[in-house]
Amino acid sequence: MSPTLTRRRLLAGIAGTVGLAGAAGAAAWAGGLFDPQLVAPGGDLVARTEAARRRPGGRTVSATLNPRPVTLDLGGRQVQTWGYDESAPGPLIRAQAGDVLRVEVTNGLAAETSVHWHGVALRNDMDGVPGVTQQAIAAGGRHTYEFTVPDPGTYFYHPHSGVQLDRALYGVLVVDDPHEAGRYDQEWIVVLDDWVDGTGRTPEDVLASLQSMGGHGDMAGMDHGSMGGMTGMSMGGMETMTSPVLGGAGDVAYPHYLVNGRTPQAPVTLAGRPRQRVRIRLVNAASDTAFRVALGGHRLTVTHTDGFPVTPTTGDALLLGMGERADVTVDLGDGVFPLVAVAEGKDGQGLAVVRTGAGGLPGAAVRPAELDRRVLLTGGLRAAEAVTLERRQPDRVHRLVLSGSMMPYRWTVNGTTFDKLDPLVVGQGERVRLEFVNQTTMFHPMHVHGHTFAVAGTGARKDTVIVVPKQTVAVEFDATNPGQWMTHCHNIYHAESGMMANLAYQA
Ligand code: C2O
Ligand code: CU
Repeated sequence: MSPTLTRRRLLAGIAGTVGLAGAAGAAAWAGGLFDPQLVAPGGDLVARTEAARRRPGGRTVSATLNPRPVTLDLGGRQVQTWGYDESAPGPLIRAQAGDVLRVEVTNGLAAETSVHWHGVALRNDMDGVPGVTQQAIAAGGRHTYEFTVPDPGTYFYHPHSGVQLDRALYGVLVVDDPHEAGRYDQEWIVVLDDWVDGTGRTPEDVLASLQSMGGHGDMAGMDHGSMGGMTGMSMGGMETMTSPVLGGAGDVAYPHYLVNGRTPQAPVTLAGRPRQRVRIRLVNAASDTAFRVALGGHRLTVTHTDGFPVTPTTGDALLLGMGERADVTVDLGDGVFPLVAVAEGKDGQGLAVVRTGAGGLPGAAVRPAELDRRVLLTGGLRAAEAVTLERRQPDRVHRLVLSGSMMPYRWTVNGTTFDKLDPLVVGQGERVRLEFVNQTTMFHPMHVHGHTFAVAGTGARKDTVIVVPKQTVAVEFDATNPGQWMTHCHNIYHAESGMMANLAYQA
């Protein structure tokens, strides 16, 4: 039974809460959608849930993040941008499952920011969503995030403020499993990104251009909406960006695609020895680009999707949407090999070089044959036994119909943009089923905060799943982490243009 929540009442609630906090000076943030019918992010239930996660004698791991203007060298190309460090990705944060992570953020930007801990089932008031779980961190301001990291895995962090993610504001969070056997000799962290900032336009310029010109200008023009009729054709003389696997593959043609912050002209080297087994933690931190990843001369065995184990599955290439992570193991050959991340359906690629022996550098445009052999999608893999969600009849089903158009540039859930969409209500302890119904001709990587769901059909445990055009993907999870959780497309331009919902626990 969903309580009837009117948007007007919710907005009045926000105004009231902000007003109170203002009057009390440094008063604690009571939560965005302050409605007596919803669990408040800063309320007791959230605090009690966190207390139950704490382990006696658990460690506290401290880190600092200093978002600020930086100059980055992408490899022969200098760009002015915003980052957490003088390099991209930002600092690696590493903890063990059960630790408390304490991160002090000092905002050196001339803009408000926030830090979201993507994929982590954390306490709701540390989720980093301005206007919902906290107030934005003001320019020059400070904020401390402190929460238990309950589950091992590969995660990442980024702002939940506008399109800031499309700068160098991202970094990896690895949560180690103290009980894991670790059947590999070494580990590489490989972060993929699409890059525009400092090349003549900012991500905010890109968003403004999409929203004002509907994809014309220097964007590749197309129509991914359900009404367009121009699908698959070029508009304004620009080619569409389509992929045989994903359909419409993106809205932005980026000048660069990066692996660990470098262009293919100046790739990073990942060094190993022949016959070593390497675990590669892959993170797609891009804003509008899925990547098809392959390592020349090797096969990839996927062991984890979005941090959680799967039945190990071997393929030649792997397709990763924005916000998705995968851990793969590789048995290294002898020589020099290209690790290629092709911008799926777009022009260009990222590159890193794997070196275990003698050999010349691969060219920037190298295309290993593995890219076109067996391509794995992480949502199609089987959850490992230990993390399989037991079967249960859903108590609550929400259908999220995804639609949108390029002109005007507007992306919706159930016909409505986020600002006008009532919360999707769930009850504590319920088995919840979400059905993502993609009515568009473009793929959407759908992300749920604070939970790891099971993809219906395969059971793969994930927090971000690709939904291809005209397809419905259902996911299920147990509602055991009370609060208000953003559920949205991880195409940052779609999320900013409305394709987002608030999945809120009933008080
Ligand atoms: Cu990485 Cu709301 O997302
Ligand atoms: Cu989308």
